[in-house]
Amino acid sequence: MRAIDIRNKYLKFFESHGHKVIPSAPLIPENDPSVLFTTAGMQPLVPYLLGEKHPEGKRLTDFQKCVRTVDIDEVGDNRHLTYFEMLGNWSLGDYFKEESIRMSFEFLTKELGIPIEKLSVTVFAGDEDAPRDEESASIWKEVGMPEDHIYYFGKDDNWWIAGEEGPCGPDTEMFYDTGKEPCSKDCNPSCSCGKYVEIWNNVFMEYYKSKDGTYSKLKQQNVDTGLGLERMNMLLQGKETPYDTEIFAPIMEKLSKLAKKDDITSRRIVAEHLRSSMMIISDGGRPSNVDRGYVLRRLIRRMTRHLNKLEIDLNELFGLIDLNIDNLKEMYPDLAKNREIIKQVLIEEKDKFMKTLAHGEKEFEKAMARIKSQNSQKIDGQTVFRLYDTYGFPPEVTSDLAKEQGFEIDMEEFQKLYKEHQEKSRMGSEQKFKGGLADQSPETICYHTATHLLNAALKIVVNKDVHQKGSNITQERMRFDFSCDHKLTDEEKQKTEDLVNEWIREALPVTVEEMKKEDAIQSGAECMFIEKYPDIVTVYSIGNVSKELCGGPHVKNTSELGTFKIKKEEASSAGVRRIKAILEK
Ligand code: SER
Repeated sequence: MRAIDIRNKYLKFFESHGHKVIPSAPLIPENDPSVLFTTAGMQPLVPYLLGEKHPEGKRLTDFQKCVRTVDIDEVGDNRHLTYFEMLGNWSLGDYFKEESIRMSFEFLTKELGIPIEKLSVTVFAGDEDAPRDEESASIWKEVGMPEDHIYYFGKDDNWWIAGEEGPCGPDTEMFYDTGKEPCSKDCNPSCSCGKYVEIWNNVFMEYYKSKDGTYSKLKQQNVDTGLGLERMNMLLQGKETPYDTEIFAPIMEKLSKLAKKDDITSRRIVAEHLRSSMMIISDGGRPSNVDRGYVLRRLIRRMTRHLNKLEIDLNELFGLIDLNIDNLKEMYPDLAKNREIIKQVLIEEKDKFMKTLAHGEKEFEKAMARIKSQNSQKIDGQTVFRLYDTYGFPPEVTSDLAKEQGFEIDMEEFQKLYKEHQEKSRMGSEQKFKGGLADQSPETICYHTATHLLNAALKIVVNKDVHQKGSNITQERMRFDFSCDHKLTDEEKQKTEDLVNEWIREALPVTVEEMKKEDAIQSGAECMFIEKYPDIVTVYSIGNVSKELCGGPHVKNTSELGTFKIKKEEASSAGVRRIKAILEK
């Protein structure tokens, strides 16, 4: 069995249990530049977990492309990946623990043929926020899980939430016993020695954690599950790492042939980061110095550095991209469609980085001159960090160059600064997740409706071909990116603002209906990426001025919005303008 076969089996299995297969959302969350990347299958479904009606029903299944970058520096070991695919099934207020556990058990033992002895499960031990999950434990026993394969753990292990605030709940996790010797007599699934590998996580999402840390019950009891495809594939094939499976093996072998100085860690980093960057670029990501663009930049730079380390000629990158696309295109047909742009972006960024490295060397020489004049033998951590952070100059390179001149670097201080920096960006990412779809405060809902009005107004005032390119909403303001080839004139801005305010004054009703995707398009509804929507879609209309495919939520009437004010209009990227606006109440 290959990864794609596991994926197909999974979707078919849940389809036969009444689930609708929905498409993977793009890696770059639609309508929401505030979220870095899609990090879990549940992320695009947050509004529905909170109670919005999903047009495809209450039982859903999909494979979701995910990127998690918290562990980017761990990539190269035998398990961490930045890009991975998550298989998931959801109950939106439909079945709960019993059916969920029974289906998971059946899929693992019957469809995948995993012997029960190889499986262990964990359930929530209970605390002051939620009771001990005896129910899940007894269902596991009923289906045939031996009692000594059922473990109870606290929130650290058996509670799932994305970030600090949002829908959450106790989970039951399934583990695969690799057959390795236990590391101690207390070795259990929560241990990281590698004997037990987590394979599936079923979250019983019935709580909402608020900013102040308190929990309340959601409108409905949901199930949210996630199964990491690469990991399952590796275990079923009896391989030690995902790099030994068909997903990575061809590129790993090619790198080994090309390398003049082989190093397995570097090969893994190149293989992993290349796949991850290709997937991000294919979904519209481009390198830049901020947020997700910066993550992509780091991935490409790290890959380039390790190609250098392997002493592989950088012109080989063309061939490596082709090989990777050909290997993965059955799983991700978009890669083949976007072959040229993937190449262009990767090669350009690689070239830019090579220039950066040259620049960094000059900066290094300047730093050396200063340090010599101070009669020091050591390059301080601040300098090493600045070379790294500002010039993308890796500390290993700084260290090598320093050694050549009989100097050393303060690696300890560098590590300290680096950790602080990492902590800040980790907090930033969590912040970004929170800022996303999970926030359904009255303010953000008003801004969401105002976004639709603005989109409609721009089409009338500026040009009917204006299309939304992105949107970012906080409780304080909205930001809207749209295709447009010129800076808006003062008159255009004023007219747009006036038109939106006129519609607000007219107290237009906001209505929602479900329809077939084709009918929605026929009826002229606005949408961003048509192929990414499921067959049945939700369409929001505002009076007869706006009609858009959208997951909601929205206000009931435009009179709730207050006064719309454009604060700024500026360039966002080539051919894309950005409006920042507020609603005054
Ligand atoms: N949301 C849970 C996870 O990411 C289950 O899908 O593990």
